[in-house]
Amino acid sequence: MAKTKSTDILTLLETEHRQVEQLFQELEKAKVNKRSECFQQIYKALNLHARTEELVFYSALREYEETEEYIEDAEAEHEEVAVILEEIKALKPTDSEFLEKIRELKQAVEDHVEEEENEIFNAVRECMSNKQLTELAEEFQNAKAKLEPDVEAELTT
Ligand SMILES: [Fe+2]
Ligand SMILES: [Fe+2]
Repeated sequence: MAKTKSTDILTLLETEHRQVEQLFQELEKAKVNKRSECFQQIYKALNLHARTEELVFYSALREYEETEEYIEDAEAEHEEVAVILEEIKALKPTDSEFLEKIRELKQAVEDHVEEEENEIFNAVRECMSNKQLTELAEEFQNAKAKLEPDVEAELTT
């Protein structure tokens, strides 16, 4: 079988962003008894994405002055998302606050994704070579696989 064409980190991150948007749509449409399951998928996807991003992608941003300036705000936005995720985890899907908090989470994620795709990715394209972007994609996949069991465990604690 032919080896699949290797992807670059920006395409990979965009794909994950679209997947999370899809999960939010599913949650919004879900019946109350399915909300918990949908939320768990969002919790896992977002935590895993953000942590792997910090480990691999944001670390790479540190290499260039033009990209380094974005790290502080982006990490603060990740922290904001992580806090809301924990708040929702402590709620029951039948709580009146649940959907309200989901909307708050969705907005925070949207704002952050917009910042990444419109500002950070453009700066990255100016600084990094295609080779570097492809290597980062591979690193991202490897790091994500290693972090997965940790995030999985947090879901049940
Ligand atoms: Fe992202
Ligand atoms: Fe991010």
